[in-house]
Amino acid sequence: MKRVLMVHASVRTERSSSRQLGYELVANWHQQFADLLVTQRDLNLSPLPHFSDATYAAFSGELESAASQQALALSESLIHEFEQADAVVFTVPVYNWSIPSTLKAYIDHLARSGRSFHYVDGECVGLLADKPVYLVIASGGAEIGSTEKQLIEPLAMMGVTDVTTLHASHLDTQQRAQKLAEIENRVSNLVDSAAAA
Ligand SMILES: Cc1cc2nc3c(=O)[nH]c(=O)nc-3n(C[C@H](O)[C@H](O)[C@H](O)COP(=O)(O)O)c2cc1C
Repeated sequence: MKRVLMVHASVRTERSSSRQLGYELVANWHQQFADLLVTQRDLNLSPLPHFSDATYAAFSGELESAASQQALALSESLIHEFEQADAVVFTVPVYNWSIPSTLKAYIDHLARSGRSFHYVDGECVGLLADKPVYLVIASGGAEIGSTEKQLIEPLAMMGVTDVTTLHASHLDTQQRAQKLAEIENRVSNLVDSAAAA
């Protein structure tokens, strides 16, 4: 493994459990792969624009306006960044039973018909190469709604199905220490099995 893309969605930086767990995963890879390059995309510090009229026009092939050309260029740069990575780590807090809206915006720019997926005989076919993707999800309690599905389904649509979820739950409860220890153990086991592969 040479390149890892980390996509962070927590509004917190220093105290974010999802980021911390993601960093632990990648720190372990650093020990195995000396020349590992890690690209950080922070959706809180550098939020992406929402899907817009200009983005819609660009995705439909209408490139008359400067705004739609910019929207296409943004989508292309995000897809290129994703394609360059050998593995991708999403660090994801649960907000109101959902992924953060900043991460939804990221997915909306990544999922472009004719580039990251297309339709063949009415069936959706992904156009991105499959690669290991880790969803490091942090939640205060147990109720996370469709958070995981909100990432797994669009990734699968684009051809990315090698997805591993690491969910640290109950972080805002008295079970926090126990739940963090459990997930950190899983992170270590994952790294051990990657080393053995
Ligand atoms: C606005 C907001 C909404 C939240 N909604 C949920 C929720 O629906 N379910 C849940 O279990 N925790 C919820 N939480 C708790 C967070 O998921 C939890 O604190 C998590 O650790 C945040 O991730 P972070 O530590 O990476 O920032 C919410 C927190 C905030 C600030």
